[in-house]
Amino acid sequence: MANSPLTEAQRTNLVKNASLIVAPGKGILAADESNTSVPKKFEKIHIENNEENRRLYRNMFFSASPELSKYIGGIIFFDETFYQKGDNGQLFRDFVKSIGIQVGIKVDKGVKPLEGGAPGETITSGLEDLDERCAKYSKEGAVFTKWRNVIHINVAQGKPSDKAIYENARILAEYAFICQKNNLVPIVEPEVLQDGDHDMHVCQEVTEKVLAAQYKALADHKVFLEGTLLKPNMVTPGQGCPKRATPQEIGIATAETLSRRVPPAVAGIVFLSGGQSEEQATVNLNEINKYKGARKPWPLTFSFGRALQESALMTWAGKPENVKNGQAIFLKRAIANHLAAEGKYTGSGADAGAAGQSLFEAGRVY
Ligand code: 13P
Repeated sequence: MANSPLTEAQRTNLVKNASLIVAPGKGILAADESNTSVPKKFEKIHIENNEENRRLYRNMFFSASPELSKYIGGIIFFDETFYQKGDNGQLFRDFVKSIGIQVGIKVDKGVKPLEGGAPGETITSGLEDLDERCAKYSKEGAVFTKWRNVIHINVAQGKPSDKAIYENARILAEYAFICQKNNLVPIVEPEVLQDGDHDMHVCQEVTEKVLAAQYKALADHKVFLEGTLLKPNMVTPGQGCPKRATPQEIGIATAETLSRRVPPAVAGIVFLSGGQSEEQATVNLNEINKYKGARKPWPLTFSFGRALQESALMTWAGKPENVKNGQAIFLKRAIANHLAAEGKYTGSGADAGAAGQSLFEAGRVY
């Protein structure tokens, strides 16, 4: 490739790892909640936010089934979990790899206020020592990474500002470049938040603008797109918008947006759930895959956090006797999303029970 700083062997390796993560019917478990966002989860089930409880929580998911890799191609770890061991005494990352799942790591350090942006806008931090951290994680067995940017919509307040869009896009491109140099497949995540009362058309317009800026920045930084994954929001109305959209409408708007803005070279698209209920996220993913009216040359699958883990968390409630039931519920979600990733999910969402409850949190941090 002209001007690429990567060797042929590096490019081949990135393409191979990216394609393993998004192999047909597989998606990602985003188990990378930071130690500042786990407390909110644990408060709901009244358990202490300590290292051992976080380890037990992760152990429930990672050991849910020796067949987990039929549905899950990759797991995103948080730094602490990357060095923890499962109940079987093996490092989680080695265990996960041994059952055929690719190991990923969150490398951003969260958001901070964006100077010169509109009120409340943010920029993601973590670039300063990223090169060293990537070299270390890569040596220790990670093959992919995640970095989340956050874009707010509030038309009256001028959000998103151009500054927020372009600065965030530039930083995400710098991150992707550094990861690839270290043989890690970057997940590029420019999340347009659901917060707000804007309708679906505004979300579509903003998402299109953000993705256009993102792919320009990735090109400027000579990022090798075949060795990247995109983690976008689905195109939905804002959480507070009275005019709701059907799953079919969301499927069409999301597929159209991506077909207009994401180059075909990208290895795969892995959606975040963004506060949708577990069932909604699955049904919408299914509709995106079913829609035939837009060109979609990439795998379109999931990289869900809340929408894979929430009912399992509530069922577990921190009690050893509930682990098996929590695992069964998690597997049910994993299988539903595995089907949705191929447009073969037949659930309607009508009697989803706990899986039908909204998981929205205003101003979500990760
Ligand atoms: P949700 O699926 O809970 O939105 O989280 C996915 C994620 O990794 C956000 O960075």
